[in-house]
Amino acid sequence: MPKHQPFQKSYIYTALWLAILGGFSLGAHIAMPMGFGWNLPPFYQIWVQTHGHMQLLGWTGLFIMGVSLYFMPRFVKVPLPYQFLTKWILILITTGLIIKTGALFTIPYLAAGTTASFFTYLVYAGGGMEWAGTLLYLFLIGTLFKRKPRNYVGLQSVQPFFAIMAAGFFFYSTLHLIQYFMFDATSRMPWSSLTIDIFIMLVLFPVAFAFSVRTFPLFIQIPPFRVSFYWFGVIYGTSAVIYLTGAVNHIPPAVEITAKIVISGIILILIYHLKLFPKMVLSPRRFMIRYYGEKYLNDRIDSGAFTKARPGYYDFGQYGRFELLIFSAYIWLAIYAVLEIFRNVFHLTGSSALFGHDPVRHIFLLGFITLLIFGMAQRMLPGFMKKKGLWSQKLVIWTFILGNLAVLGRVLPILLPQPWFAGIPEIHQWLMYGFGISGLFAIAALALLLVNLWKTFRG
Ligand code: HEM
Repeated sequence: MPKHQPFQKSYIYTALWLAILGGFSLGAHIAMPMGFGWNLPPFYQIWVQTHGHMQLLGWTGLFIMGVSLYFMPRFVKVPLPYQFLTKWILILITTGLIIKTGALFTIPYLAAGTTASFFTYLVYAGGGMEWAGTLLYLFLIGTLFKRKPRNYVGLQSVQPFFAIMAAGFFFYSTLHLIQYFMFDATSRMPWSSLTIDIFIMLVLFPVAFAFSVRTFPLFIQIPPFRVSFYWFGVIYGTSAVIYLTGAVNHIPPAVEITAKIVISGIILILIYHLKLFPKMVLSPRRFMIRYYGEKYLNDRIDSGAFTKARPGYYDFGQYGRFELLIFSAYIWLAIYAVLEIFRNVFHLTGSSALFGHDPVRHIFLLGFITLLIFGMAQRMLPGFMKKKGLWSQKLVIWTFILGNLAVLGRVLPILLPQPWFAGIPEIHQWLMYGFGISGLFAIAALALLLVNLWKTFRG
């Protein structure tokens, strides 16, 4: 009888090292000259594109894969098939990322000739390895779902979100690979933008939401959901496909923009259903009375549960204040959705939006996804490793402070309209310094997370 595979912590370590030494360092290296008015690094486009891809596949992608390869088999109650493949997925993606990045940064310094074409082949080989690793992951997840019991209903509500995630991984990795064969760094830009949108809409949001639905009732004591999210998933997926099709095929701009507004609207409705905002503002007692009823509350008081656990949670504080990271992640997500609605309503009415794509995108990627990973990692991974709690609860607060400072620094100066600073250029200058060092704040938070997890896993 096959058994469940233990948690593959190498995915988490690799994601963290790739983030610290790769994605975030590249981001910091681009942001610093922008913030302090220094010269941008040569071959800027390659820096930006490599930063983006390394962050998406290396940081968030490997984290999602590592967690889902442990979580999903237990969720559908079937051991993961072909368990030996999990190490190959990690080897292929990590080696591919490193080879491709090294070659991309070397090519511009070489004159056209045999050596340059050798490095171009390395780019193809690296891209091919990333693609093969991602496809192996999809193969494992697909086989797992095929083997789940036929009458298993636990998955139904979030099934469309997992299906969208699988499609997203496939299209992202395939289009990302194809673009290296078709375009050079400058003409790659529009495609790069499409693949990023695919990753954000089809991979990151669906998987973050599906995991939130499955874990939040346990982690932050919110009542189990009475609604099924199935149809939300279907409408979300259809709108995302309509929006993304607009990038490759002509569809009326009004349809494309409406699809984007629907997506953001659904995100807001889903946030509402997670009940995180009442959880943040109501006392544990009032929250419980409102959502569970007075009888349940009294039963819990009688059973002594409140004296044992942290009020409003099931844990005893051994994971620190991890919920602050989850709350702030969802606040950033709500801000993202509202700004996206504004941006698209402006487009629809023909006026130019007050703020650009980049800060809004980073609100999602850094504010929502990265802070959510910080919070979930510190709450969930000790349990995956059969540990009773985190090595340090204080470090959780520091990842919360540094992580949020990084988001504020990264997005505020570009998000706030320039005319606001007309009479006070010094404030804008200071905000730009904050932009310059935002990457360092993020790297510091990642380093603390790495230390905390490493010590916890070894303890
Ligand atoms: C404090 C941390 C970060 C800093 C300092 C940073 C910095 C930057 C900068 C300066 C750019 C170029 C913007 C432009 O061209 O105008 C950029 C683009 C981008 N960043 Fe970040 N970033 C950070 C975090 C993240 C995270 C966490 C992710 C994803 C999880 C991410 C994904 C991207 C993507 C996808 C792009 C666009 C790449 C492209 O156009 O090909 N960044 N970032």
